[in-house]
Amino acid sequence: MMQEKQQRLENIIKAMTLKEKVAQMLQLSPSFFDSKSEGVITGPMLDMGLEEDIDSNAGSVLGWVGAQRAIDIQTRYLSKNRHGIPLVFMADVIHGFRTIFPIPLAMSCSWDTELVEASAQAAAREASAAGVHVTFSPMADLVRDPRWGRVMEATGEDPYLNSLFARAFVRGYQNNDIGEPDNLAACVKHFAGYGASEAGRDYNTVDISERMLREYYLPAYKAAVEEGAALIMTSFNTINSIPATANVWLLREVLRKEWGFNGVVISDWGAVNEVINHGVAADGREAAEKSLRAGVDIEMMTSEYVTHLEKLVAGGKVEEALIDEAVMRILELKERLGLFENPYRGADPEKEEKILLCDEHRKLARTLATRSMVLLKNDGVLPLAPEIGKLAIIGPYADANHILGGWCGDGYDEEAVTLRQGMVARLGEDRVIIAQGCGITDGTDEDIRMAVEAAKKAEAIVLALGEHPGMSAEACSRAFITLPGRQQELAEAVLRLGKPTVTVLFNGRPLELRDLAEKTPALLEVWFPGTEGGNAIVDVLFGDYNPAGRLTMSFPYTVGQIPVYYNCFSTGRPEPRGNDAHFYSRYLDIPNTPLYPFGYGLSYTTFAYSDFALNRGEMRPGEEITASVTVTNTGSREGEEVVQLYIRDISGSVVRPVRELKAFQKLSLQPGETRKVSFAITEPMLRFHLWDQSVQSEAGRFIAYVGPNSAEGMEIDFMLIK
Ligand code: GLC
Repeated sequence: MMQEKQQRLENIIKAMTLKEKVAQMLQLSPSFFDSKSEGVITGPMLDMGLEEDIDSNAGSVLGWVGAQRAIDIQTRYLSKNRHGIPLVFMADVIHGFRTIFPIPLAMSCSWDTELVEASAQAAAREASAAGVHVTFSPMADLVRDPRWGRVMEATGEDPYLNSLFARAFVRGYQNNDIGEPDNLAACVKHFAGYGASEAGRDYNTVDISERMLREYYLPAYKAAVEEGAALIMTSFNTINSIPATANVWLLREVLRKEWGFNGVVISDWGAVNEVINHGVAADGREAAEKSLRAGVDIEMMTSEYVTHLEKLVAGGKVEEALIDEAVMRILELKERLGLFENPYRGADPEKEEKILLCDEHRKLARTLATRSMVLLKNDGVLPLAPEIGKLAIIGPYADANHILGGWCGDGYDEEAVTLRQGMVARLGEDRVIIAQGCGITDGTDEDIRMAVEAAKKAEAIVLALGEHPGMSAEACSRAFITLPGRQQELAEAVLRLGKPTVTVLFNGRPLELRDLAEKTPALLEVWFPGTEGGNAIVDVLFGDYNPAGRLTMSFPYTVGQIPVYYNCFSTGRPEPRGNDAHFYSRYLDIPNTPLYPFGYGLSYTTFAYSDFALNRGEMRPGEEITASVTVTNTGSREGEEVVQLYIRDISGSVVRPVRELKAFQKLSLQPGETRKVSFAITEPMLRFHLWDQSVQSEAGRFIAYVGPNSAEGMEIDFMLIK
């Protein structure tokens, strides 16, 4: 930051009272700023022990309010703030703002970082016009447990792919200049390791080794920081027995010292106060002291800082310099956003009217939704023939508009295209029959009977089933991850008709699908596909777009198998051995393998792999090996294949995963077309965290795999010589 700007901020801090400084470290919802109604002052404000002037001193707003209201709040705030410090508006813009894109777990199945970046850019354009400055995204938590409802916000179980998507989101939001009014500052979250919550129960204990944390969970946050994310949010969980929000090692040692992050650290909602519940602070005063020492700059929606920090300074318990450091980072953020020059930066009611839900963004949402869908099974019933006669859509999602998913910003279900609407747009009203058959969680025998009767009138059937979006979101863990209610029963009743049937699934997490997958001729995972969901599903069902989504999170054979993920360790007994045939790592009643593995997805065409070769069998640091493989579209229609390169380190000073994704290429091939695909294998690709947490490669034998997913493919050995 230019010297004179820095100097101006320093002068402001010098002129501030301690009370004003501490208030800058508080984030409150909008109602605290624009309503002097009795309700606020005597309600929440009283509950939080806040004084009336907090509405012109608290540093930031949590949530969006629309352009005009943001302008009004800012005007009112500036008219009262002694130093002319502007407010910063932060909100959850997670997968779109008003135009809603598929949930992040769906988007990640596109394996298309450019499209994801474009969706973040579109979201930034919409949200900034509505007066938002910062988004609490990307969520870079690695996830392995589908019982956890927040897997819907994540991009999967692989650290390399998560890192690519974290970078793509940051680039899309920030577009290299957070001062540009069309852009948002990105706040990567939840730092750190939130996805490892035990038993998939939200807010539960995380207890993993430092090596696991560094090797699997930290890379995506680090990638976001390297990409320039302006803020980071602390997670609700403990890390190594200390809450992340009060964790000096995590926030000072790793984040600031090792990674050189000098942006703003904000707590998650109430997480400063929750240090007490964790049992690492006796009271709010201690929670405030520990969070400040750890380096949390902004406290979200609780008031331990404003209640205790002044007294802690007066009592010599904390140095005012710690507060000055935090306030400086907050003011620097506001400066970088251009808010001192133009406190109304971005907020534009006319532009808001024009750009939210504009055709360009809807088109992008439709494209990204088709790319996010994963074809899990197809015995030939798909794609549907355009000349199909009557088509019945049966199930709770036949005409449901709650398809945006959790964290759907300013999106409205009413603006979403339902499956029925998409189908009618394609076939016309008279060729589409609808019957709900049952609700998501309820239903009667009569409903099911009537749905079967309706299905009898059709040439083909689409079963539209799934979870409610409120079942996979924050604080929405599920112990049983089957289809809720009587949906399986409905599906089986309809499938017994023996008609061409495809099942379309609307869900936010991998589900337990074993029974359904066995019985349905075709199975299409559409997740929560967003505003253009109905159109996108129809595009895929009729083959306008040949599905090419690949899973970024394993689908378990059953919930009892969890956690199940592809980049696991071999164990000492990976398979039967001689006469000790049954003494190996297994279950008596299910396979070790998931129902659908990481990287898996089908197409309406088929692909063959041949001539997998390495140009050399060994390399030294600084050299590289070229791996090449020939991929052929052996089917009768154009299709995209995601060619995946995995590597296994056969022996290390610590255990190494049986496979690790190292690179991929998504390519479109015409029927019969053959393409030679090459990957460079380099020594840095082979590095990992050793026992002492250093990151190095080790000489020895490796296996390179190339193929369509993490469970199949061709393999060749090579050596790293050191
Ligand atoms: C929530 C979530 C976090 C979100 C924040 C603000 O509790 O954990 O992801 O950004 O509060 O809404």
